[in-house]
Parts: sequence; C-alpha cells; structure tokens
Amino acid sequence: MADSNYQAVGGYSAYASEKAAARSRRSKWIVIGSVIGLIGIIAIGVGVGISVSHNKKSSSGSSSSRAGDPQQTDPNDPSTFVKDSRLHKSFYGLAYTPEGSLMPDCGNTLEAVIKDIQIMSQLTTRVRLYGADCNQSALVLEAIKQTKTDIQVFLGNYPVPSDPTVYTRQRDIIKQAIQTYGTDHIAGVTVGNEFMLNYLGANSATDPNGPVGAQGAAILKADIQDTRDMLASLSLPKTIPVGTSDAGSFFNTEILSSVDYGLSNVHAWFANVSAADASAWVSNFFQETNVAPAAALPNRPKMYIAETGWPTKSSDASNANNGASDASVAGLQTFIDTFVCQANTNGTGYFFFEFFDEVWKEKQYGGVEGWWGLFNSDRTLKDVKIPDCPSP
Ligand SMILES: *[C@@H]1O[C@H](CO)[C@@H](O)[C@H](O)[C@H]1NC(C)=O
Ligand SMILES: *[C@@H]1O[C@H](CO)[C@@H](O)[C@H](O)[C@H]1NC(C)=O
Ligand SMILES: *[C@@H]1O[C@H](CO)[C@@H](O)[C@H](O)[C@H]1NC(C)=O
Repeated sequence: MADSNYQAVGGYSAYASEKAAARSRRSKWIVIGSVIGLIGIIAIGVGVGISVSHNKKSSSGSSSSRAGDPQQTDPNDPSTFVKDSRLHKSFYGLAYTPEGSLMPDCGNTLEAVIKDIQIMSQLTTRVRLYGADCNQSALVLEAIKQTKTDIQVFLGNYPVPSDPTVYTRQRDIIKQAIQTYGTDHIAGVTVGNEFMLNYLGANSATDPNGPVGAQGAAILKADIQDTRDMLASLSLPKTIPVGTSDAGSFFNTEILSSVDYGLSNVHAWFANVSAADASAWVSNFFQETNVAPAAALPNRPKMYIAETGWPTKSSDASNANNGASDASVAGLQTFIDTFVCQANTNGTGYFFFEFFDEVWKEKQYGGVEGWWGLFNSDRTLKDVKIPDCPSP
C-alpha cells in the first residue's frame, strides 16, 4: 500500500512532495478535463495557509493586525467586533485555512483566527477546514467561542497516501479539539482532500473506480472508518457526520457509499467557461457528476460543492485567462451575482472559494493560485458588492 512514487520520509516531506507532484499534474488534468469534463483541481495546497508565518514569528512584538481587521468596542472582548455594513450572510459556506497551518512551520495565531472569524461570521454560518495540522481545529473553535458567533465548522483531516501517520496525527488533534470544545459548533469531519485525485495521479491512473482507484479507496475507506470509530468512542451527544472531499470527477463509488457527505471541487474557470456562463456550468456539472450519482446510492450521501469561485488576477500574463475565462474582479462580481443567490434558492450547499488571497500560494505557484479571495490578503474587501440574500 506504500505509494512507490514517493519516499515516505516523514510527514512533512511526503506531504510537500505529494502536493508538488499534484500541482504539476494539474495542467494535465485540465487538458483531460476538456475531453471528459473533469475539473476543479485548484485545491492543491489549499489545505495549508502559511506564507506569513515566518513574518509573524520574526516580527513578534509588533502587532500582526491587518488593514481589514474589524475593530472591537472592547479590545479585550472579541465578541464586540464592529460589523461591516457591506457584508451580508449570503454565503452557504466559506472555504478556509488559517494562515500558518502548514507543517512544520505552523505559525498561525489565535489572534489572527479571531479576526478571520469576526469577518467570516458576517458572511456565512458555515466554514470548512481542509486539514487539522498546527492546531487549526482548536484555534477555530476557540475563536468561535470568544467571538460568540454562530459558525458551524466542518473539521478536516488531510491524509496523504504515502504516510499513514499524517492521518493519525490529525485524527488525534481533531479528537482533542472535540473533547475540549464539544460538538455544538461542529457540523462534520471531512476525511480526505483530493485523496483520490492525488493517489491516481501518483500512480499514473485516471479512473477512480478502476483497479488503482480501488487501492487508493481502500486506504481512504479505512481512515474514514477509523474516524467513525474515534467519534463513537467519545460517546458524543450528537452524531457527527463524516465525509470526504475530492475533485469533482474523482469520487470513488465505494468511498461515496461509506460517507455521510461528499464535498466536490467544481471550478468553471479551469474549464475555460466565461464568467457569464460559470454559474450555470457549475450547477450542471455538480448535478450531473455528483448529485445524481450520489442520490442513486443506498446511503444517499449529501453532496456539497467543496470549492467554487473566480480568480481576480494572475501573477503572470500567460495565466490571466483560460480561453474565455478572464481572471478579473469583474468576473468575480459576475460569478457572485449569478451563483450565490441562485444556489441558495436551489438548496445547493457550497463553500465559496475563498475568503482571502493566500500569499504563500502566489509565491509558490504563481498564476491565478493566490488570487481567489473575496478579500485581499490584508482582509480588505475587494471591489465587489456582496449580494444580500440570506443563505438558509
Ligand atoms: C491549541 O489551541 C487552543 C486554543 O487556542 C489552545 O488552548 C491550546 O493550548 C492549543 N494547543 C497547542 C498544542 O498549541
Ligand atoms: C483553455 O484555454 C487555454 C488558453 O487559450 C488553452 O491552452 C487550453 O487548452 C484550454 N483548455 C480547455 C480545457 O479547453
Ligand atoms: C438553480 O436552478 C436553476 C433551475 O434548475 C438552474 O437553471 C440554475 O443553474 C441553478 N443555479 C444554481 C447556482 O444552482
């Protein structure tokens, strides 16, 4: 079951190489996508915000506050944050990784997560995390507690095929966070982020339900069952749903049959669809590729869109568009205007991608990777108008 394409050289190295390899595969998948309609591989590296962690650590002492951080009427009480009238709770959910949540550097801070929760709580009642490293589960739950906000969190465990300890490490962090904070603000535990996509890519296969897919699925399925066992061992007052997240076309049927929910990445931008057509495209893709197949399974897992959004710029000119799809603020506005309220009306659960521009991705990957935020990296709102149609 060891992934022969990778050396198991400790959690971090395996993790990093996995991500680098996945990253390099992306363009290939996008091309394949044009043929078989698979899309949505942006999340490479999404699970891990970092970049500023070094700055934060080295500049300790000086305030780490950012231009867009909310003010508090009582500096000692994070629940007294001043609301921003431009924001509305119109988003079903937001995709989120606290900055500085990549092993081994870490560097995230409760102070920064509190500011993030103060802003996000004005946009949504649901946040999904990708992984659990660097104590991010507890930081988010603590921030919700201190801000007294009504956010429900989908905790995440981001396993890698080549090193089982990456899974167990995160499982134990999640367990501890649940023991500390209880279940009131936990909506689910997601085991796997693009696990099948990465496993297939690492083993030169493409079919999540083929023989190689079955090998990868066996690993992931064991992790999912292990998480269920861990939750059961806690005798919790409510049953916490367990799910998995993957690229839209990479769900293995046996995995879907063993989860309560599936989260699917669906990105029109990578399909060369224009901003004007993106909402309809995302909706169709999600219905056909994810919702309908899931509804046909005996366990009928609930399907959500794990990520959908629109980049506002590219670090280089060559990636500034994909055919018809331009990276622009106007494009983001168009997508928000045509997707958010419709999806709310249609009963589609989605996690908008994403809350803020992630600087580390811009540095590491270039292109559009670092520019998907509704907010700039300093947490100031981009020049977009947030729709006002309360999400259910
Ligand atoms: C994790 O975060 C919580 C909340 O801030 C804190 O109480 C706890 O000490 C942290 N644990 C570690 C290992 O940093
Ligand atoms: C999207 O457009 C780019 C740039 O025009 C092109 O290189 C790529 O092959 C197209 N991809 C698809 C999936 O059509
Ligand atoms: C909502 O449903 C309508 C009617 O089926 C469909 O045309 C539209 O694309 C859907 N939009 C979203 C965002 O789900």
